[in-house]
Amino acid sequence: MIRNITEDELNEQQLFSEKVRQHYSECKPESPPLAYIRTYGCQQNVSDSEHMKGMLAEMGFGFTEQPEEADFILFNTCAIREHACDRVFGNVGALKSLKARRPDVLIAVCGCMVQQEHVAAKLKESYSFVGLVFGTHVIHRLPELLLGALQQRKQMTVIPVEDGVIAEGIPVRRDGDFKAWLPIMYGCNNFCTYCIVPYVRGRERSRDPEIILQEAKDLVAAGYKEITLLGQNVNSYGRGATHGVDFAELLRRINAIEGDFTIRFMTSHPKDATPALFDTIAECKKVSRHFHLPVQSGNDRILKEMNRHYTREQYLSLVAYARHVIPEISFTSDIIVGFPGETREEFEDTLSIVKEVGFTSLFTFIYSPRRGTPAAQMPDPVPLEEKTAWLKELTALQEGISGERLARLVGTKQRALIEAQGDGYLEARLPENSVVRVPGDPSLIGRHAIVKINDARSWIMHGEICSVE
Ligand code: 5AD
Ligand code: SF4
Repeated sequence: MIRNITEDELNEQQLFSEKVRQHYSECKPESPPLAYIRTYGCQQNVSDSEHMKGMLAEMGFGFTEQPEEADFILFNTCAIREHACDRVFGNVGALKSLKARRPDVLIAVCGCMVQQEHVAAKLKESYSFVGLVFGTHVIHRLPELLLGALQQRKQMTVIPVEDGVIAEGIPVRRDGDFKAWLPIMYGCNNFCTYCIVPYVRGRERSRDPEIILQEAKDLVAAGYKEITLLGQNVNSYGRGATHGVDFAELLRRINAIEGDFTIRFMTSHPKDATPALFDTIAECKKVSRHFHLPVQSGNDRILKEMNRHYTREQYLSLVAYARHVIPEISFTSDIIVGFPGETREEFEDTLSIVKEVGFTSLFTFIYSPRRGTPAAQMPDPVPLEEKTAWLKELTALQEGISGERLARLVGTKQRALIEAQGDGYLEARLPENSVVRVPGDPSLIGRHAIVKINDARSWIMHGEICSVE
């Protein structure tokens, strides 16, 4: 069952929050406690960490980038591929000596990785210096969990297995002041056969449209220039709810908010992205003309084995329709190389779809077996060396396509968000994510500008600011 967290439950957390504050003011009266938070994985995790930082700030914590000086160390983990999990174990393991030197420091591990039973068991057996382990459905209970862990000597583990919760009204401390993540839904019901997400993030559940709209309005009023709507499959927003607001309607309503800002969203699923959605985007001028639409594979048999529910042709005709109604739209994609049983010929279909679509850029992954998923049971005869060679071939192909695309941008003027300062230049990001280096004053960071692209070499574009909005 999916549950909304009640006001009473939130108020209870406020009481715990106060007790944590008291605990530290007694044990460490000279200065506020410090938290170090390390986030792995996707933007949903980044957003969860921003909410945990909000709760920690309410508990009186300051923040540090140095684990050595922290009183509370939190790893918010990702389970999507084995490599992500290995990194977490390596980085957590490296803190054993810190804990031995400073027994008062509390080390916690949370997020998707610990939601898997075997990971929680490993943390219990081999990482006893970790004081707190908690899953994805109890993030809103951080004050209670932290207090509990401070009061007991052995590892505290809280990993309820449930469909998931929606917790509104949690404080948030955002990392950026002009780009914001705005979750519109949580969980996933798609069960792509390779993917662990539906098992660790629970069932799909959408936030109330009015609450999302209010949050978006508050962000715009606070001067945010880019709002990225988050969900594992944003195209199925509102499915099963009684309010009747689907993703297209949500976009229309956010687009109608007065102000100078851009709306982005991720991730889309090709089976649920409809022509009607592209018609809406064509109308909604604040919606970015960039679409992240993971295809995963260009081969129909593999797509079927992946449980993706679309064919190569359906994907291509969706892209063609989108380009028909929004000629300037750009696409990026995720691709999995070496899905169990994939043959060389089937992989070549992925190469050919990449050529045919002409993606701006790709996120490419070698298939990583996830315990408990159907694909992990499938015969997987292709050796890793061969998959690695395929991956290289794919990335080389994409580099050529991206290079040609960048070359075509030379001489054009583009609207970009000035995001950061480099060594003697500013970085202006185009809607599809490519960066242009431009001279300019750092005070322009956080503003939109029209930039002229003067050259593109070795994946770096150089240009100049024509006007600032
Ligand atoms: N192995 C490799 N890549 C994966 N992804 C998801 N699960 C796996 C896996 N088991 C990739 C998909 C998805 C992206 C977020 O991660 O391409 O779109
Ligand atoms: Fe994983 Fe598929 Fe859900 Fe994306 S849509 S999170 S790939 S199961």
